[in-house]
Amino acid sequence: MKDYGEPFIRIVAMPKDTNSAGNIFGGWIMSQIDLAGGSAARQVAPERVVTVSMKEILFTSPVYVGDQVCYYAKIKDVGKTSIHVQVEVIALRLNELGFRQPHHVASAHGSYVSVTKDGVKKTISDELKRLHGF
Ligand SMILES: CC(C)(COP(=O)(O)OP(=O)(O)OC[C@H]1O[C@@H](n2cnc3c(N)ncnc32)[C@H](O)[C@@H]1OP(=O)(O)O)[C@@H](O)C(=O)NCCC(=O)NCCS
Repeated sequence: MKDYGEPFIRIVAMPKDTNSAGNIFGGWIMSQIDLAGGSAARQVAPERVVTVSMKEILFTSPVYVGDQVCYYAKIKDVGKTSIHVQVEVIALRLNELGFRQPHHVASAHGSYVSVTKDGVKKTISDELKRLHGF
């Protein structure tokens, strides 16, 4: 598997998460993309981050009930207050031999801003940037 970064979420898709066609609802996946991206961003801004933008959300194949959906995230760039994260979503689906096979199902690029608990922009520490390779 490519270097998608760290797995931040792994969750089983349930019937309550489906859309009217019976596949998994894209909005359910998007909310977890945001959670995974935000968790990655907090590595350099542990106090709090807020989402400022979500770009290029791409759904590459459908997700089905019973899939184990895994959200990988990797920080791509860090600015003065912003953190830019690539998120990749892989569904693990049982085949007829009982092995879980990976299917790439979605990707997105999320941008987050470091803020204080009160929501005021906060400069990211140089030390945390350095520790995380930026
Ligand atoms: C995010 C927020 C703090 C930004 O405040 P602001 O004063 O407009 O911020 P700025 O324009 O100075 O931008 C802050 C950083 O975000 C970056 N940024 C702003 N808009 C961006 C965008 N569309 N895409 C990527 N980065 C963006 C800026 O480049 C800047 O980065 P830097 O400090 O590393 O140079 C403010 O808009 C806010 O609180 N938004 C609501 C956030 C929220 O509630 N999110 C959940 C939504 S449901």
